[in-house]
Amino acid sequence: MSQMKKDCGYAAAELVKDGQILGLGTGSTTHYFIEKVGMRVRDEGIEVMGIPTSYQSFLLAKKWNIPVTTLDEHEVDLAVDGADEIDPNFNLIKGGGAAHTLEKIVDYSAKELVIIADESKLVDVLGAFPLPVEIIPESVSPVTKALEDMGGKVEIRMGQFKDGPVITDNGNFVLDVAFGKIENPIHMEKDLNAIPGVVENGLFTEMVDKVIIGSKDGVKYL
Ligand code: A5P
Repeated sequence: MSQMKKDCGYAAAELVKDGQILGLGTGSTTHYFIEKVGMRVRDEGIEVMGIPTSYQSFLLAKKWNIPVTTLDEHEVDLAVDGADEIDPNFNLIKGGGAAHTLEKIVDYSAKELVIIADESKLVDVLGAFPLPVEIIPESVSPVTKALEDMGGKVEIRMGQFKDGPVITDNGNFVLDVAFGKIENPIHMEKDLNAIPGVVENGLFTEMVDKVIIGSKDGVKYL
């Protein structure tokens, strides 16, 4: 599995052109993308800047001496990010690492968005992976009720090596919501964000330009 993540992460890094501003996604797959970009900075001397989507990608960028910048300073040429599920129309579920809010902001603003993933992430219909929804902590009860009214089974994401709920990089909670098959992700993405207290949900629709899959048979460009 990690070889497949590495293969697609490294392949995406080869798309990077000298001088570009990069959106740096979060997760175990983008880890390899950032690593390979760092190697290209070191070995080829390419000059790029990164806009991190989490503390994880910020720290990785620093480790690899990739200069970081912000959306206030620069526009994103190319964002590369992972996914938890990818449907045939390139709609995504993201947020397994609780970073989907900043990921969506950076990915949405990018001139080009490339998704990298191992082949296990390809699905016919989104929804087997519970949908992450970042919420304002004070809104747990009303948002949970609203999500249950929409047919979701809701769990507050709990920390590992931390008592109590996961706290996002933005100081919020994450609800993982099992809806079953999500037949209309475009509508659902909008409906969920209309609930007061919801900061951002993990559906990414109509955003992706290219998908690079790491598989047992090598890298595939979709
Ligand atoms: C972070 O919150 C997520 O959106 C990740 O991008 C997604 O979970 C993919 O992560 P992996 O590459 O670790 O599977």
